[in-house]
Amino acid sequence: MGNKFIVIEGLDGSGKTTVIYRIIQYLNKCGIINVITTREPGGTPVSDFLRVLIKYGGPISDPIDSISELLMIYAARFQLVKNVIKPALSRGYWVIGDRYDLSSQAYQGGGRGVDMLLLQALSDKVTSILYPDLTFYLDISPELSVSRIKNRIILDCLEQEPLSFFARVRSRYKKLASEKKNIIMIDASQSLEKVSAVIYRYLDWWVNKL
Ligand code: TMP
Repeated sequence: MGNKFIVIEGLDGSGKTTVIYRIIQYLNKCGIINVITTREPGGTPVSDFLRVLIKYGGPISDPIDSISELLMIYAARFQLVKNVIKPALSRGYWVIGDRYDLSSQAYQGGGRGVDMLLLQALSDKVTSILYPDLTFYLDISPELSVSRIKNRIILDCLEQEPLSFFARVRSRYKKLASEKKNIIMIDASQSLEKVSAVIYRYLDWWVNKL
């Protein structure tokens, strides 16, 4: 059918939301109107419930362990893939994902340093049923990320982590982007026009073949 699953990744404050909006506008302009977006964690009733726990934590008496966080993230993703993303793709919709598996590799693997065997087993389970056609990783420095998010009224548990956490997340993102050919790394400290131009080049390639 030619429809694709495209993922946008990056540190908090890297401009994912604006870029996703631009992609939708661009696809619409090219006559592609069947487009849905997803945002992780979340996107089904169960996944949204888990999102609140993942972002805002458990009660003080029962703090969430990093392994529990990992399991909740994958539970939320599995629900989303099975109940929303796969059915949408089967109906011919383009799906633009605000985060997917690469976030877990970067945040839980790189940032939290969780057990890689467990992370890889969970990742394989999800990606064996759905792997993105292309992932755009919007690269910014941890300093820029922190300076962009510090004015938000409420910071979630992950956003409150120190700069060193985001440095580890970024370095895992960059490592994976350099190893895998369908992850495109874009310098997102550039203007929105420049970032969008790179993305449009890839979209054009697909759209022209439809
Ligand atoms: P956001 O929707 O504002 O981007 O918030 C999601 C937060 O959850 C963000 O700080 C990144 C984090 N996260 C992970 O740590 N691992 C994951 O796999 C995903 C999808 C998100």
